[in-house]
Amino acid sequence: MSEADFRDSTQRSIPRHAADYVRRGLWAEEGSLEASRREFAELLPQGRETPDRHFANLVDPESGQRVGETWYLVQQRAGKVRFWIDWIWVDPNHRRKGYARAALLLLEEEARRKGADRLGLSVWFDNPGAIALYQKLGYAPASMWMMKPLDRTFEGGTR
Ligand SMILES: CC(C)(COP(=O)(O)OP(=O)(O)OC[C@H]1O[C@@H](n2cnc3c(N)ncnc32)[C@H](O)[C@@H]1OP(=O)(O)O)[C@@H](O)C(=O)NCCC(=O)NCCS
Repeated sequence: MSEADFRDSTQRSIPRHAADYVRRGLWAEEGSLEASRREFAELLPQGRETPDRHFANLVDPESGQRVGETWYLVQQRAGKVRFWIDWIWVDPNHRRKGYARAALLLLEEEARRKGADRLGLSVWFDNPGAIALYQKLGYAPASMWMMKPLDRTFEGGTR
């Protein structure tokens, strides 16, 4: 990914991340853009040159057209290589054509080349399309982040 592509990608990601967090009730609308900007700055203190971070366009092999992007992390940690997919995105008009699947399989090859013995990623439960994609490729849940909105009445419990 070129510096210009990286800048574009970040400019798209910051408002999208803010909107996602507002929609999920995690952030208030007001200040969400600033919070998102701050998170990206913390995540990528040196921008595209941030150590261990990688950014790639997804490109159609025949036409050479850019159809999406992926961000991933390759990090040496506690005697292992941690390979973590931060983000995968396919432009809406190119979805369901197998691009994400192909990209994830390429990332598997890259992970093997880098010496990793597994890949990780996180996905929201309200994203069934992405979950279906990952499960089809052999990803399985490894941890669960749970939330309880306090405006809902708890109807379970013991009697
Ligand atoms: C999730 C996403 C990356 C999938 O990209 P894609 O290129 O359309 O996926 P593929 O065409 O490679 O799909 C491969 C398989 O995954 C499953 N799948 C993908 N998208 C799906 C959807 N919306 N609903 C149900 N299954 C889906 C299907 O089994 C699909 O095979 P099929 O088309 O033969 O049925 C794309 O929808 C996207 O960019 N979404 C917005 C960003 C996002 O949510 N990223 C993931 C963050 S964790």
